[in-house]
Amino acid sequence: MSGTIEHFIDGLPKAELHLHIEGTLEPEMVFALAERNGLKLPYASIEALRAAYRFKDLQDFLNLYYQAAQVLVTERDFFDLTRAYLARAAADGVRHAEIFFDPQTHTKRGVPMAAVVDGIVAALAEAERERGLTSRLILCFLRDLDAADAMATLDAALPFRRHIAGVGLDSAEAGNPPAKFAEVFQRARALGFKGVAHAGEEGPAAYVTAALDDLGALRIDHGVRSIDDAALVERLARSQVPLTVCPLSNQYLRVTPDLSRHPLRELMAAGVLVTINSDDPAYFGGYVNANYRAVQKAFDLSRAELAGLARASFAASWLDAGAKAKRIAEVEAYAAAG
Ligand code: ADE
Ligand code: ZN
Repeated sequence: MSGTIEHFIDGLPKAELHLHIEGTLEPEMVFALAERNGLKLPYASIEALRAAYRFKDLQDFLNLYYQAAQVLVTERDFFDLTRAYLARAAADGVRHAEIFFDPQTHTKRGVPMAAVVDGIVAALAEAERERGLTSRLILCFLRDLDAADAMATLDAALPFRRHIAGVGLDSAEAGNPPAKFAEVFQRARALGFKGVAHAGEEGPAAYVTAALDDLGALRIDHGVRSIDDAALVERLARSQVPLTVCPLSNQYLRVTPDLSRHPLRELMAAGVLVTINSDDPAYFGGYVNANYRAVQKAFDLSRAELAGLARASFAASWLDAGAKAKRIAEVEAYAAAG
């Protein structure tokens, strides 16, 4: 065994499955895009904006996240944002990324759906061409808006459907149960989209059950509150419906008091298919490898356990069976080489 465990994490091939592209907007880029688009920011400097990154809870974070996203206006802005994320992801050993975007945040300001999707997709295509980094795009509905708005957004996205693998559900969870979007998800499924949903982040374990039963979610984003319901944990383990866990996000948004009390270890021990992801890395102290490093430290994870998490990230992805097997073999070869 040579090298540090941090070095092992850096080189470990992995997939990232829970990443909001708007959550990769670094303060430097907020200022650069505001200037490019002639917008005035309510922060005096990059440092003043970064200093505001102390959150009480999910809503407190979302207020800043939606405000910062207003600097994204043109197709080029979305291209630059996505390209910067993909460069960082590639440096972290990410071989495949499944990326959320929040179109309602942009279309309600008058930004055309085409500017959003075309900008993101151009950067995804470039990364595949130049880095061999593959990807899928997931359109998220904002659950604090009404279901009719989500349905209209689905309609507006149809001209771009060849670029969009699935739909998701994010934003303020408490008081916005999955059932509110059952019809939208049913329609999306009928149109050939896969479905995932944020559930059990701030909301209860019952929302995870509802995301499975009412939305037919193929993966649960976060899902950490599942730990409160033993029957649900058993169901997740049996069905191998993956959880896309975001440890630093949970710490920053006070979903968990500190990482040593995060349910990750228990979920792994119960046989749940958990994966490690960064959620909104510009806001939560680092990209995917910072998350791997944080849980390695909190739970003293071994190289074999870290490789298991990386294997799970590909197993839980929407890559086709051949690509999945190839990536998993890469993880095994890397782990065997130590
Ligand atoms: N949108 C961006 N990040 C989110 C999170 N952690 N939970 C819900 N909605 C989000
Ligand atoms: Zn998220």
